Amino acid sequence: MSTQPLTHKQILVGVSGGIAAYKSAELVRRLQDLGAEVRVVMTPAAQEFITPLTLQALSGNPVHTDMLDHNAEAAMGHIELARWADAIIIAPASADVIARLAQGQGNDLLTTVCLARRCDLLIAPAMNQAMWSHQATQANLKTLVERGVIQLGPASGGQACGDVGMGRMEEPGELAQAVAEHFQAGTLAGRHFVITAGPTREAIDPVRYISNHSSGKMGYALAQAAIDQGARVTLISGPTNIPVPPKAELINIISAEDMLAAAMSVAESCDVFIGSAAVADFRPAHVATQKMKKTSADTMTIEMVKNPDVIATIAKLQSRPLVVGFAAETEHVIEYAKAKRERKQLDMVIANNVADQRIGFNSDDNAVTLITAEQEHPLALASKAQLAREIIHFISNHLLSAYEKE
Ligand code: PMT
Repeated sequence: MSTQPLTHKQILVGVSGGIAAYKSAELVRRLQDLGAEVRVVMTPAAQEFITPLTLQALSGNPVHTDMLDHNAEAAMGHIELARWADAIIIAPASADVIARLAQGQGNDLLTTVCLARRCDLLIAPAMNQAMWSHQATQANLKTLVERGVIQLGPASGGQACGDVGMGRMEEPGELAQAVAEHFQAGTLAGRHFVITAGPTREAIDPVRYISNHSSGKMGYALAQAAIDQGARVTLISGPTNIPVPPKAELINIISAEDMLAAAMSVAESCDVFIGSAAVADFRPAHVATQKMKKTSADTMTIEMVKNPDVIATIAKLQSRPLVVGFAAETEHVIEYAKAKRERKQLDMVIANNVADQRIGFNSDDNAVTLITAEQEHPLALASKAQLAREIIHFISNHLLSAYEKE
């Protein structure tokens, strides 16, 4: 028996207020035609355009409208609903719901479920052409897309208000197809990536430590980009302050020794190991068990011992994955990075100049050079999200299959 592209997939359709809301009935049908189980969440404004009863009859499930309805919450609460969904598609997505999502508001059931989701969110904007081109709407959309929300449309054409221009919702059949394509395996389906990110902290005493300025942004962006291509990702992260990509399997660590233990537990079973973490090269030789007291001396000395080199240890394993490291340099960037690649036996090193304030540690942007045994491939200044996509693309298209043929 042939299976449909959305068989066993649980799709939550969010409907917000707009004349295109009537098309969401057709979307429910088209998703079901592709094999999906569908539930519907409606905003109060959506219910002015189409009744919950219509969508309940079509979806075969009660329609969710209110976060403060005890009966509905008892049947399936907003957190359960968020966990239930394999993907959420909001169609139509009004300018208002896009703004509220961009701000992270949770002032109705739909936005609350979106905040609590662990799955991908697709939105099909639909609104008047002037509202669409307003810079606030465009800025809100940009924010959402940068966070990984997938934008479908809008299309251009005649509008219900008589205007002509951008803002028509994509047709339900096309939206259902886009949801199906979203689930089709990416180029890295079946691959397991392990990515280290962020700083390590090396304890001096119970309240003090030595660390660095790594924010984790580069590593988290790489994790998201690999996930977007269908890979399973284990993210081994030092202490950071940024959101973890949904679907990443997170292992929190503190010190370089913790990071090594975590890396060793997964390295032999993964396909690719990427070390983007800024691992402290040294740690205090002795960690005081009590808070160290100030003395009358004007100086103090902390004896340091070398930390294990996480990535070099992984690269030396007999059954090793493809290993990609970073080189954070402040001078002779390419020359030093090449030497690092050879010394640590890496398949590729990604050189970045951390002396440049615009890039490197804790910035949103970076500029890097990918260096393998055969080539140097510069990637110009761009957001870490954009560079991460290019790096993952390079690994997937140029390194991975060649590595496995050896
Ligand atoms: O986290 P962000 O704020 O986004 O910043 C990103 C970044 C600048 C931290 C990142 O782009 C970067 O350059 N990461 C590597 C930082 C670093 O420690 O570089 P290194 O040249 O000292 O180390 C070389 C390689 O060995 C790295 O892959 C590093 O993870 C690894 N290493 C280093 C020491 C050690 N004891 N164990 C290691 O595995």
